[in-house]
Amino acid sequence: MSTTGEPSIEAAERLQGRTVEDSAAKQLPVPNVPDLSAFDMNGNLHMTSESMEKLHQASVETQSIMQKYRAAMREMQVRLEILDQDLNLKKHRNPIHHIESRLKTPASIYEKIGRYGYEATLENMERYILDIAGIRVICPYIQDVYSLFELLNRQDDLEIVKVKDYIASPKPNGYRSLHVIARIPVFFMDKKESIPVEIQLRTLAMDFWASLEHKIYYKFEGNAPDYISRDLRECAKMVSELDEKMLQLNEAIQECILKESDRERLEGVCRDVIGSREEQKLMSAESAAEDPKKEDQKG
Ligand code: GTP
Ligand code: MG
Repeated sequence: MSTTGEPSIEAAERLQGRTVEDSAAKQLPVPNVPDLSAFDMNGNLHMTSESMEKLHQASVETQSIMQKYRAAMREMQVRLEILDQDLNLKKHRNPIHHIESRLKTPASIYEKIGRYGYEATLENMERYILDIAGIRVICPYIQDVYSLFELLNRQDDLEIVKVKDYIASPKPNGYRSLHVIARIPVFFMDKKESIPVEIQLRTLAMDFWASLEHKIYYKFEGNAPDYISRDLRECAKMVSELDEKMLQLNEAIQECILKESDRERLEGVCRDVIGSREEQKLMSAESAAEDPKKEDQKG
């Protein structure tokens, strides 16, 4: 769910004809619906109890699948939050600015199955649609995007299924983000399942650009005038340069902070060493005063 005023994942997908809404998931059409001949000439529904049972069954199955993906999405979000906390504790870094998440609706899933040319069945939905659960991670800097990906990649129970690096190779319109499909194990009452989640990682600047592009795409239904598309590509270039510059600035600041803390540490050590020397001198002076013979012997 979007935590900012920017368009959420749902909105971004809607613009591409892939409407996604979490809350509606339970009420939407399901596959294997009863034969439409159950409607008479007047549009009245005459369903046999067998058809009703089938419809009910399909609805229960869809809900159960959606529940699985919702669980996977939550697990993945927790993993990312743990990485953020750990990096904060150990490296004083906060690679995550915020996280958004969404579940595709069954309607949108079946539309996509159709687009891929498969029959709309629950099996095909699980086999071919890998972005039913989606998480978007917004990071301050490009480096955060790649370090988070690297840390996820090292988690041995996560299976990285697919990576699309639109940062290294932006889309022709200028879109940039790192897209990862990863399977995460989820434990249920009676089984463990590895469920795919799509993770989109991008910087704040990339997200800003994507939300503007979304607005424009939506407004012009994908046919924006040339000058707008050109300006958008221009903006994408500026965003990329901004990301680079911000990263360099941040690295320079980090270096200064490091140097400063090194100097402080060094000063601390010096103070300790000098302090203990002074202490030693003081102690030997005191013991000499207590036992003048010692001083005589020395002399
Ligand atoms: P589809 O999910 O069918 O698009 O196929 P795919 O998984 O191969 O697509 P891809 O991974 O390239 O993009 C999936 C998601 O990324 C979309 O649903 C959007 O959320 C986002 N996205 C991709 N391209 C664009 C773009 O040009 N502009 C914006 N604003 N978002 C995009
Ligand atoms: Mg996708």
